[in-house]
Amino acid sequence: MSVCLRDLLLEVVRIIMSQDSTINPQWGGRFSESTDNAVVHFTASVTFDRRMYRQDIQGSIAHARMLTAVGVLTETERDEIIHGLTEICMEIDRGQFNWSVALEDVHMNIEVALQAKIGLAAKKLHTGRSRNDQVATDIRLYLRDEIDVISAAIHRLQQGLIDLAEQENATIMPGFTHLQIAQPVTLGHHLLAWNEMLQRDYERFQHCRERVNVSPLGSAALAGTSYPIDRHMSAKLLGFERLSENSLDSVSDRDFVIEFCACASLVLCHLSRVSEELILWASAQFNFIDLPDRFCTGSSIMPQKKNPDVPELVRGKTGRVYGNLLSLLTLMKAQPLAYNKDNQEDKEPLFDTVDTVKACVQIYADMLPALRPKRDHMLMAALRGFSTATDLADYLVCKGMPFRDAHAVVGKCVAYGLAKGLDLAAMDLNQLQRFCPLIQDDVFKVLTLQGSVASRNHFGATAPDQVLSAVQRARFQLQQRHSVNLVHCNPASRQSVPVLPD
Ligand code: ARG
Repeated sequence: MSVCLRDLLLEVVRIIMSQDSTINPQWGGRFSESTDNAVVHFTASVTFDRRMYRQDIQGSIAHARMLTAVGVLTETERDEIIHGLTEICMEIDRGQFNWSVALEDVHMNIEVALQAKIGLAAKKLHTGRSRNDQVATDIRLYLRDEIDVISAAIHRLQQGLIDLAEQENATIMPGFTHLQIAQPVTLGHHLLAWNEMLQRDYERFQHCRERVNVSPLGSAALAGTSYPIDRHMSAKLLGFERLSENSLDSVSDRDFVIEFCACASLVLCHLSRVSEELILWASAQFNFIDLPDRFCTGSSIMPQKKNPDVPELVRGKTGRVYGNLLSLLTLMKAQPLAYNKDNQEDKEPLFDTVDTVKACVQIYADMLPALRPKRDHMLMAALRGFSTATDLADYLVCKGMPFRDAHAVVGKCVAYGLAKGLDLAAMDLNQLQRFCPLIQDDVFKVLTLQGSVASRNHFGATAPDQVLSAVQRARFQLQQRHSVNLVHCNPASRQSVPVLPD
């Protein structure tokens, strides 16, 4: 049979097959009946994975450039592909693209649209590639971008917190253990504790980003490809830091998604703890803060209500992010190498986690700087709870008494105060000396709240001076990081992202 005749017959077969609209034209060659309609819907992912269309197009353009460099595509074919994909991207941006569930996923929707637009060259785009390495590439590109957005939001939240901590460096409030008043602390110190949690969260996302920013492209279906591809080139074009080492691993493992969800779970764990405190502090019982009206909601039945819905929702949303983490761990645990369709189930938990963590961090970055501390109420609360009892014990130790004995003496003073309705600082010298003659009138310096916090004046402690130094250190950390982030944001310099200094 002449080559011409064979081509003609192949074309006829192709036309006949493509007339059965439910045989997928991208992989239906060996199928003799249409896919069951329920199966088409059950197996499709386009309703959710289309969110990665930009990354899919970005990956295809890099792949086409690389195929041209190694001689698989001509320059004309490459230019047609790039032009067509760019047009498709703009159509999707404008909402003018027809997504088809019959075409299963984002990858095949775009490829078929490209075929309709430019014909033959589009059919060569998938040379040396599989949807398995394509989807792994898309997720990594998508996640890298989202980590940058989330990191920027954490950065903004930290900036707000540090500014507030500086402003409240000498504001006294009760510090709690077991939610019982323990010792006086400064509000600035408390706010910087939240900042420390967020600092670690930020670092965790940066470390996770290093493992996300690895190119699986070229792994093809599972074993690599027989074409003379240049994986370094496509990785470089996409701004990946390095290549994945093993094709079987890189098309199948989603540990980087799981790791991201673990980072997200921890940041939400922290925001949930902060939420819990804000909710308590905004209650009439604590009355430590005022949350501006614009961050609260009312009740449809109780006219007096002003509810802290934002922190409550953040606390609530933490549960679903933990749930997503567990879903993904379970999704992965029994999969044999290499790719399995199970992995399509990675996207919805991932996307939901991204959306949730972004919304929570961003709303906190807006809300926290607007928080209005009620300094008088915090001070009154610290005055009421015998919060300087440890200071009195330490005072007696300075006068030569062993700490255990001092503890017992102060315990008696507290019992007396409770019976009489007097706090320690409100007792006179005679009353105090009944419990221990070592107590002199210099005791009142340590019994005041100001004296108590000022005396805890070492690295990491609550004294206002220490809070101010910690604010400087925290600001310095943020500035260092900022220069690193600017490098991340510039795709041309992604190759030379410096390592964060220790
Ligand atoms: N939609 C698929 C996913 O999300 C893309 C990869 C499909 N690969 C395959 N061999 N069926 O994982």
